[in-house]
Amino acid sequence: MEYKEIEERIQKLRKLVEYHRMMYYTFDDPEISDSAFDTLQKELEILEKKYPEFMNGISPTQKVGDMPLKKFKKVNHTIPMLSLQDAFGREEILDWIGRLEGFLNYTAGTLLTSDYYCELKIDGLAIELIYHEGVLISASTRGDGLIGEDVTENIKTIQSIPQKLLQMGKFLVPKNLVVRGEIFLTKDELDRVNKEQTEKGLKPYANTRNLAAGSLRQLDPNISRMRNLRSFQYDIVGDAEKNFGTHEEKHKALASWGFTVNTHNTIARGIEDAFRFWRTWEHAREKLPYEIDGLVIVINDNNIFNTLGTIGKTPRGSIAYKFTPKEATTRIIDIRIQVGRTGVLTPVADLIPVSVGGTTIAHATLHNADEIKRLGIKIGDTIVVSRAGDVIPKITAVLKELRTGKERSFTMPKNCPIDGSPVIVEGALHRCSHKLCGARHKEMIYHFVSRKAFDIRGLGAKIIDRFLDEGLIVDVADIFNLSFDEIKILDRFGEKSAKNIINEINNKKGISQEKFLYALGMLHVGEETARVIGEHYPVSNIAELISQYPKIEKEEWEHLPDIGPKVSESIYAWFSEKKNMDLLRKMESFGVVLHKTKKKQGKFLGKSFVITGVLEHMSREEVKAKIKTNGGNISETVSKSVSYIIVGKRPGSKLDRAKKLNIKIISENDFIHML
Ligand code: IVH
Repeated sequence: MEYKEIEERIQKLRKLVEYHRMMYYTFDDPEISDSAFDTLQKELEILEKKYPEFMNGISPTQKVGDMPLKKFKKVNHTIPMLSLQDAFGREEILDWIGRLEGFLNYTAGTLLTSDYYCELKIDGLAIELIYHEGVLISASTRGDGLIGEDVTENIKTIQSIPQKLLQMGKFLVPKNLVVRGEIFLTKDELDRVNKEQTEKGLKPYANTRNLAAGSLRQLDPNISRMRNLRSFQYDIVGDAEKNFGTHEEKHKALASWGFTVNTHNTIARGIEDAFRFWRTWEHAREKLPYEIDGLVIVINDNNIFNTLGTIGKTPRGSIAYKFTPKEATTRIIDIRIQVGRTGVLTPVADLIPVSVGGTTIAHATLHNADEIKRLGIKIGDTIVVSRAGDVIPKITAVLKELRTGKERSFTMPKNCPIDGSPVIVEGALHRCSHKLCGARHKEMIYHFVSRKAFDIRGLGAKIIDRFLDEGLIVDVADIFNLSFDEIKILDRFGEKSAKNIINEINNKKGISQEKFLYALGMLHVGEETARVIGEHYPVSNIAELISQYPKIEKEEWEHLPDIGPKVSESIYAWFSEKKNMDLLRKMESFGVVLHKTKKKQGKFLGKSFVITGVLEHMSREEVKAKIKTNGGNISETVSKSVSYIIVGKRPGSKLDRAKKLNIKIISENDFIHML
């Protein structure tokens, strides 16, 4: 992006993030998923950090929550209700620890073995509860962090929030107590309410957080009462905080006073322990009755935690380690057409690689022209891509607000990109009018990876079909750009086989020139012809091939041994096509390298042989091998350029033709003699 475009993008992102924050926090009616929102916000944060000159105080990245609704009485939070920094991987957690060590002037590594309190991060809404002499006097939402909404009456309908505290155990109930926690409800409750909503013809709630927030933020507490709201408490702030040495102790005190604390929370001895806890819940979360979206990792030692203080809108000493996001935003670089086995043209989007569902995604199929129209996709658009469970990625939405005007519409081609035949439209489908096109294209790919060509083991027909169908490959060059991440997510494709295939492809990126020419699948160009071409026109890389071969005239090709007019026409035609040169360029860019065809030496140099009939002393393969190692060529057909015909028992029509052309006829014994 150019400098000016960056400023524009930042402004547009701010507006959009602002909008979605408002829909989420103020109106409990989000339009995009939390994880898609997270990537948008993250992109904005990164741009703002990199270009501080465009930073001004009003960015939504500096904000906590959003405006309280006017309909509520307002409550001031004497201690601001902050938000948490997000981390999306182990590395980001280790970076965080590094920053803390820097801030505290500790030797690097000191904090790796500290105690961390690990909590499940409940996907609900934050609440502040104020107790005076053990009695609940106020409950408020976070609002913008400083001013929240008074929801005391609604909170009183929630059973798991004590209205009077118990004095049990060693922790004394303080005179004034400010407690923070989360209000949420279960997945079952969401289902129940949504069923009701649909029956009444009303819009269902998008998720449990949404429903919880919508249920709590009602002027009529009777509505809150009808929803099974629940709550966990996780912090004590204000004066009472001073009674506790660790975060863990706060949780114990909360429990002893009658609050509900999450019993899954645990103390981690060292950060690796916290990572293990995270991995456990990344899987086990599905079995919980409520939604969690990550872990909250807190420095357990309150002294250190307090010394660390806050940075912007977040405390330094704690962080949200989010679970793998299932949706993300990214941009469409281009849309390409993939021709399937039945000749159907499928548009595939090339994306700026983005991590979704634990893998990096660089492509997504757009299915057909109707789908592009339905989503309103243009090239250059910022889109939402999602990958739920083990399925392939899908583009689910376009963020049109982020358009710059430079986006390009995509139209399906009028001609097939593979063979140029006219495209016919059948309902939603576009199909190459040439019946064999798809099948032929597929066959070309099989040929390309076959033993005598690139020899990519493990990349059989079935797998190629899958790759074609999923849009992972469009042409043979794409094979060299496949990624481990893309393959491993395909159904029934384990990590191991994905790794094997990628390794094998990488190992085969270097290839001899003659095998390469053979792999291209030019009409009438077999192994032998490919070798002859390579021998007479050796090149050391694809770039040379691209610059030299198209300049060779048809007649020049014809001068090569064993190459007749049909073959030379085919070679000439192949190298005259721009599409083919583009393909070569693409292969080069994906790392394919050539080894020059070595000029052969030996007594049969420049001689070519035809074999006919049944041999007695040697097998045909042996004879062929001997000819080759001695620098000779083998020809399948009899032509003027053939030097010898080796004749065994019961020779075929080749002998007759050889006689006509005056070609030297030798027996198997003669040949052995020559050797
Ligand atoms: S500690 C400075 N612990 O996540 C805020 N937060 O993204 C300290 N949340 O505003 C919060 N479960 O609404 C904490 N076990 C937990 C949590 C939790 C959910 C929410 C909370 C917070 C938001 C930050």
